[in-house]
Amino acid sequence: MNREVTVWAPATVANLNVGFDSLGCALTNPGEKMIVRMTNAKGEVRIRSVHGAALDMSSDRNIAAVAAKSLLHAMGDPCGFELDLYKSIKPGSGIGSSAASAAGAVVAVNELLNAGLCREELLPFALDGEQLASGARHSDNVAPALFGGLVLCPPVGMPLSLPVPDGWHLVVLHPQIEVRTADSRGALPEVVPLSDAVKQVGWMGAFVAACFRGDAEQATFALEDLLVAPHRQKLIPHFEEIKQAAFKAGARTGGISGSGPSTFWIAKDSKDAKAVAHALEECMAQMNVPCQLHEAQIAAQGAHIIP
Ligand code: HSE
Repeated sequence: MNREVTVWAPATVANLNVGFDSLGCALTNPGEKMIVRMTNAKGEVRIRSVHGAALDMSSDRNIAAVAAKSLLHAMGDPCGFELDLYKSIKPGSGIGSSAASAAGAVVAVNELLNAGLCREELLPFALDGEQLASGARHSDNVAPALFGGLVLCPPVGMPLSLPVPDGWHLVVLHPQIEVRTADSRGALPEVVPLSDAVKQVGWMGAFVAACFRGDAEQATFALEDLLVAPHRQKLIPHFEEIKQAAFKAGARTGGISGSGPSTFWIAKDSKDAKAVAHALEECMAQMNVPCQLHEAQIAAQGAHIIP
């Protein structure tokens, strides 16, 4: 049996404008690795090292550790684990840093324990980790980080994988500031107007229907956000300028990625995506905001063991 595995886990874009807390996709880039090793300390999970981010290493407050421990306990604590985390998805970036940690940890533990759980069965354990970050138990980052692809998470029941719209090329802009998920959720209203809720449901329905029809254009057109972005835009420096630059350079649609501050922009091909990335880089340089840009497509595979 393996005593050590390396796992890769993808970044994710949650909400995708139409599906607050219920829709998300996995990205081909960025992604990150963790190495998980079995130890003899039964029931104990230790973070041995963290590279690329200053994370809490305590086993009760580190997301990967909490997710790993949750699954380990459910399996009867036959051993312990130590983890080396290589964080290339920045915490507080809005592209599922905590979800990648949680998903990677449960995939590794499942493999090392030879537990044979399927992705659906791993989800609740990954959520035990993820909920530390946002204070809420929503799967729109964790489910795509585990399953890959484009995933719809209904209020009750298991996530559903949706057909991925053809040819979507995403550009993710991450201004180098941190927005805590809990703060970003705090900016949202308790109640929304019924007329907005009705329209939002309509857009979500149109999006899902377009995915199943294989109509990428209609799926792109349907990505309207009436409920969330209007309240969160203020947390993202120069959101209006970013939006204008992205559309002018050829983005078909876009919005806030998860709880921000990253934004995502969808282009029809890699040439347009490069033009959008270039325009956003220039826009951020003009505003004097350091940033990271990622060009990606939707990753078919979620967190998985790599050699
Ligand atoms: N759906 C979540 C939110 C994603 O927008 O707050 C961030 O974890």
